[in-house]
Amino acid sequence: MTATLLTGIGELTTFDPQHEGPLGIVRDAALLAVDGRVEWTGPASAAPVSDADRVEDAGGAAVIPGFVDSHTHLVFAGDRAAEFEARMAGRPYSAGGIRSTVAATRAASDEHLRARLARFVTELRAQGTTTFEIKSGYGLTVADEERLLRLAREVTDETTFLGAHVVPPEFADDPDAYVDLVTGPMLDACAPHARWIDVFCERGAFTVEQSRRVLEAGAARGLGVRVHASQLGEGAGVALAVALDAASVDHCTYLTNDDVQLLAASETVATLLPGVEFSTRQPYPDARRLLDAGATVALASDCNPGSSFTSSMAFCIAVAVRDMGMTVAEALRAATLGGAQALRRDDVGHLRPGARADYVVLDAPSAVHLAYRPGVPLVRATHVA
Ligand code: NIG
Ligand code: FE
Repeated sequence: MTATLLTGIGELTTFDPQHEGPLGIVRDAALLAVDGRVEWTGPASAAPVSDADRVEDAGGAAVIPGFVDSHTHLVFAGDRAAEFEARMAGRPYSAGGIRSTVAATRAASDEHLRARLARFVTELRAQGTTTFEIKSGYGLTVADEERLLRLAREVTDETTFLGAHVVPPEFADDPDAYVDLVTGPMLDACAPHARWIDVFCERGAFTVEQSRRVLEAGAARGLGVRVHASQLGEGAGVALAVALDAASVDHCTYLTNDDVQLLAASETVATLLPGVEFSTRQPYPDARRLLDAGATVALASDCNPGSSFTSSMAFCIAVAVRDMGMTVAEALRAATLGGAQALRRDDVGHLRPGARADYVVLDAPSAVHLAYRPGVPLVRATHVA
């Protein structure tokens, strides 16, 4: 048994209702972790010092739960900097760019993809992310999708089969035959390496009927459901996600009033991806509208080479606060607890007793600085249990 006491915490965010306000804040706090789990949090003056084998001092810093990034696409080769540059010069975003990453990824070796992924994991950790999901979706053949999921599984348990990302060029004339492949042999090969199934339900990708087939096939194999929808325009993807009790529907940039009501009345989390609108110059999603209706909101990076090449959850928080109508407290919650809810996890995203002791020591006296000091690296240390 190892018991570590972190004391001298200026501001501790726990999401424990025993503590102050909706964030469960403790000031001048301490946290006792035993064998990688939170055992106790409270005022440093009441800390069970004699239970600790080791005592560390946070020197007055703010401590928050590790970020839970519930949506990334980190296994790919190449980048699309030229596409981004062209967009910033006035070209629109098109989901068709995904195919160029598919070509580069198919051509890359396992070693190359693994090394790239390892660098991303280091990048995530350095920015305070302690739990992250990774999707396939840049292979789009049975062997390549299986390979991407196997590689993703080496670094996270939260893996998502996204064979239905776009229709690959070789099936351009017969998209339904591609859906047959995805729901048949590709699912057979991929399901053992995945926890989730996902589909891009959007004009230019998959119709709602095709999306339903994909998601139901995955669910029948025991995979949890998540959906990409309403990124580029309104559509039936949100209603489909709610009808199938998806853990999360992601993007939610263009929502009808009915979508918002459906989300509010469901367990499906609305996951907003500010990096996408930043990098595609689309309007930001209206988080305020979702929160006011009572929906659960998560923030995630969507880190991918096309629509959002950031892995910074702090950046997402800053944009959500500045441009999406979220308070700092709501954005911090969405980037931690919200992400955990989007992954249907109750052991991460908070620091209540029993949680994994995944936390971030900030180079700041308060978590407000995450939005107040945009672009500044404020993570002093990331602790992964
Ligand atoms: O989540 N929307 C679909 N898929 C990705 C974009 C991937 C890409 O452009 O390469 C997304 O934004
Ligand atoms: Fe995505």
